[in-house]
Amino acid sequence: MSADITVDRLSYRYPDGTAALHDVSLTIDKGEIVAVLGPSGAGKSTLFRCLAGIDSPTAGTIRLDGTNLASLRGKARRKTLSRIGLVFQEFHLVGQASVLSNVLIGRLANANPATSLLHWMSRSDREAAVTLIAKVGLAPQLRKRADALSGGQRQRVALARALAQEPTVLLADEPVANLDPVLAAAVVDDIVRMVSEQGLTAMLNLHDVTLARRVAKRIVGMQAGRVLFDLPTDQVTDVLLSQLYGGDTGPSARPSNTPGTTLPTLIEALEVTL
Ligand SMILES: Nc1ncnc2c1ncn2[C@@H]1O[C@H](COP(=O)(O)OP(=O)(O)O)[C@@H](O)[C@H]1O
Ligand SMILES: [Mg+2]
Repeated sequence: MSADITVDRLSYRYPDGTAALHDVSLTIDKGEIVAVLGPSGAGKSTLFRCLAGIDSPTAGTIRLDGTNLASLRGKARRKTLSRIGLVFQEFHLVGQASVLSNVLIGRLANANPATSLLHWMSRSDREAAVTLIAKVGLAPQLRKRADALSGGQRQRVALARALAQEPTVLLADEPVANLDPVLAAAVVDDIVRMVSEQGLTAMLNLHDVTLARRVAKRIVGMQAGRVLFDLPTDQVTDVLLSQLYGGDTGPSARPSNTPGTTLPTLIEALEVTL
């Protein structure tokens, strides 16, 4: 297997001086599904934001399929980053738009912004979106407004939208933190099933240790901006986990601060033409 994501001595400091990541090094191979665990404030979301190109490292490098992200500008950077699909705790759906429109937004990542609307209208885009919606079990909800769906259904729409972008890597940052445990397990199973079916590489930041153990063969434990352990799941002992959480196994109460997807004007136009 070859490396899909290589993080080498990554450090990140927020503009207010908070040092969120120190010297993080990781290699994720193509097709691997890795869970990231750790207490609130460990730097998990910051790591994902750096991998997604939302934040740029203060030090160290991130290579995606061998290419140093920092060396890319403009179109080449957008193209490389479009390989990364994102699913966050908050669903970032456009509530008043249909399931279909929300998923079609995922196609935007591959489109020239100037021709996005035309691009959206292509038959193959719509077919791809409809297929993905069916695969996440939402065919009956295709034309329903996103804000009329349940939490689990919304996160499935967010998953379909991320996959509509045809990523090779899926990053899911606390994708089920807002769902009850039974639903959370079902949605994570869906994410893992789709990721495996499509042969994607995935990193899942989960707060449920049991769930992480069940779906990932490898677990990265983060604490205070560092990697505390990076091990095959069957070597992650209860002792290590209690060290990781320092007695606090509760889910992160801090809301993540990820940018929203609000494209009201384009959406309105899209709703009219669909
Ligand atoms: N926008 C921000 N500005 C300043 N500090 C931040 C910001 N976001 C997160 N942090 C800080 O960075 C550290 C890592 O946070 P984060 O990556 O959100 O951790 P996790 O996702 O593991 O809970 C924490 O100390 C947190 O308070
Ligand atoms: Mg977080």
